[in-house]
Amino acid sequence: MTLSSLVNRYVDRIADRLIEPIDKRVNQKFYDFPLGSKPWAVEKDYLDLWDKTKQIAYPQTDGYEKETGFAMDKTWLDELALLTQIVIKPHDLCYQHGRLLYSALSQMVSKRPKSSISILETGTARGFSSLCMAKALSDADRPGRIVTYDVLPHSTKMYWNCIADKEGSQSRAELLKPYQDLIDEYIIFHQGDTQTQLNKIDISRVHFAFLDGGHTYQHVVDEFDYLKNRQQTGDMIFFDDYTPNHFPGVVDAVDEICQQHGYSKQVITISDQRGYVIGEKL
Ligand SMILES: C[S@@+](CC[C@H](N)C(=O)[O-])C[C@H]1O[C@@H](n2cnc3c(N)ncnc32)[C@H](O)[C@@H]1O
Repeated sequence: MTLSSLVNRYVDRIADRLIEPIDKRVNQKFYDFPLGSKPWAVEKDYLDLWDKTKQIAYPQTDGYEKETGFAMDKTWLDELALLTQIVIKPHDLCYQHGRLLYSALSQMVSKRPKSSISILETGTARGFSSLCMAKALSDADRPGRIVTYDVLPHSTKMYWNCIADKEGSQSRAELLKPYQDLIDEYIIFHQGDTQTQLNKIDISRVHFAFLDGGHTYQHVVDEFDYLKNRQQTGDMIFFDDYTPNHFPGVVDAVDEICQQHGYSKQVITISDQRGYVIGEKL
């Protein structure tokens, strides 16, 4: 054995021992109550917010549902939103992307022969958008797989700044127990930063993607980079947060992607805080 192979073997052995503690250290912040160390509010506060939010009319979403011919069951949506979208935050709450995702995906599925649908999501958070997409597949009685990424772990207890915090800290897996059937059928939760982890899985075709993770130009461009050779005509990307005043980097990235890579661009603006682009590969 040469000296250099001996040194390499020694370095590998040290690296093997260090990799796990270093990974843990770097990601510690995601395991240590990343959304707060205690409940943000009491049950009544969340219920009041829910009552207020679910009564708001959204003609833009109604219009998109009419255009596609698919609308989500409102009671199901509102119940899921109470668990996963009604949070204490300084901006107005709005979970219209759930309805839009459902309609866009249902329409796409209806145009395809009976094949399995492959979906990639970045930004799982509490699981709201994954479950809206799973509901669309389930209502269409279609097989499929939703791979969803987040830096937040799936099995670590935390407070989620949501109504379920009254039960104490819970993992996402526990939080979403009421939706276990849909999860078992469709969803794969992957913990990791898309910047470093996306390329470690190989999904040969992504029929539908929802990008809602990091909200910078670079995140969107890098996530699209993963998708660009995995989509064909008719496949779709739903971009969240197309809001020039809040996420100019996302807007620049989405404009560039649609223009340079042959995607149609349907902009749906709900308010100055919430806007989306639904892109279809031409
Ligand atoms: C706006 S939230 C997603 C909301 C979710 N899609 C929904 O509809 O409820 C953004 C999520 O992206 C995650 N995130 C941010 N940057 C990320 C990255 N580089 N890789 C993976 N996840 C990321 C955050 O932890 C956060 O949970």
